[in-house]
Amino acid sequence: MLYLFQSFWCQPKEIQAIISAQTHFEAQDSDVIVATIPKSGTTWLKALVFAVVNRRRFDVNSIEHPLQKSNPHDLVPFLEYKVYANNQVPNLSNLDSPRLFASHVPYNSLPKTLIKNSNCKVVYICRNPFDTFVSIWHFISKIRPTNLGPFSLEEAFDMYCMGQVGYGPYWDHMLGYWEESLKSPQKVMFLKYEDLKEDINLQVMRLAEFLGCPFSAQEERDHVVDEITKLCSFQNMKNFEVNKDGKSILNFDNKGLFRKGEVGDWVNLLSEEMVERLSKIMDEKLAGTGLEFPNIF
Ligand code: PPS
Repeated sequence: MLYLFQSFWCQPKEIQAIISAQTHFEAQDSDVIVATIPKSGTTWLKALVFAVVNRRRFDVNSIEHPLQKSNPHDLVPFLEYKVYANNQVPNLSNLDSPRLFASHVPYNSLPKTLIKNSNCKVVYICRNPFDTFVSIWHFISKIRPTNLGPFSLEEAFDMYCMGQVGYGPYWDHMLGYWEESLKSPQKVMFLKYEDLKEDINLQVMRLAEFLGCPFSAQEERDHVVDEITKLCSFQNMKNFEVNKDGKSILNFDNKGLFRKGEVGDWVNLLSEEMVERLSKIMDEKLAGTGLEFPNIF
């Protein structure tokens, strides 16, 4: 059951933690926030951000690297699912810098200290709406309590097209971060899942540059970028023990976070009418914004 809260859809149990984060979170200039709408590449981006900013602390090639032992959702915790969940108001001031957090809320619902009173950085990733929808539908179908019966593709799609999806409407979510990235490119970096798939090394170099820790010439000679992208690759991460057996967010099985990891899986599920309907909505919503998803058809 989704409720409309601060102009986005979310589950009632998430509201308390979102308000708590808005009330209590005090941003530091060195913080990095990974922001996404669910199923757009959160787990991947968390892994990359963690590996990039900590590469001088943790050897990327070591089997003891934290990403081999912990799921990215434990290393880069969500403000609303972990940090402020269950009515906790933890003291975060002593955490090692840079602190890494994540959030699914739209830009305007992030804690105000984070967007107004600090120089912390926000990295956003979005994914074409077709694959994001398909990924959400598979995920919800898996975790839905059996007594509710199956979640039909048609019903889920209808809700998605009406904007009723966790933290959606989907288009408002991405446009909020997109516009902010155009206004304040030093504060908000806007990435696309498809671009990461196309040239991951290039995007990781851009990411490091944005986060203020560009790769040195020596690191380039040592192929550190390759090592990071390999460590965080779908195949690699899917096969870490912690991601086969462990649990992280809200007790979901980590293995459910690694399904196919491809661009274009939507062709296997969506009918022609569905593609036409969603394309029309996206064309209308994105018209004149400069945001596009080329090469997905
Ligand atoms: S969540 O629950 O919101 O955190 O999910 P999220 O991580 O945003 O999205 C899950 C989809 O991302 C794919 N995935 C990856 N793709 C590429 N590389 C890596 N390392 C990776 N890790 C996860 C995952 O398979 C989900 O996409 P689908 O299309 O369902 O496979």
